[in-house]
Amino acid sequence: AVERTLSIIKPDAVADNVIGKIYTRFEDAGLKVVAAKMMLLSEEKAGGFYAEHKERPFFSELVEFMTSGPVLVQVLEGEGAIAQNRDIMGATNPADAAPGTIRADFAKEVSRNAVHGSDSAASAAREISYFFSESEIFSR
Ligand code: CMP
Repeated sequence: AVERTLSIIKPDAVADNVIGKIYTRFEDAGLKVVAAKMMLLSEEKAGGFYAEHKERPFFSELVEFMTSGPVLVQVLEGEGAIAQNRDIMGATNPADAAPGTIRADFAKEVSRNAVHGSDSAASAAREISYFFSESEIFSR
């Protein structure tokens, strides 16, 4: 089925000037960018996005990193988009990511891992509406 998933190009990848290379990975995998915005996340916005990780030891480091510079947030649409995006991102820890995946090629450590992608249909729905209204998404 055609799905939508929420993707974030994180501050490390924006700073490394690889937005275009990462978009090419999405496009080559058949994922369409149907919404996008660059933004500097506030502590509140980043903390709310990662609310499920609030009790994790790395939570404050995660929020600090995600607010350290601009991010590019996008909605990707395509057949099986949620799993497809996870496949091309590779494992959360770039040390475990398969060769040729975005994290293997553009990330250095688990705490600065270049991209985020929704992990389920429920997360995708929550995460998309956290950043975009329906009128900002251009299905095509
Ligand atoms: P992401 O998919 O955006 O979702 C939660 C993030 O927490 C994850 O990517 C990692 O960047 C980060 N994370 C996971 N485990 C650790 C860790 N052990 N130390 C620091 N950050 C982590």
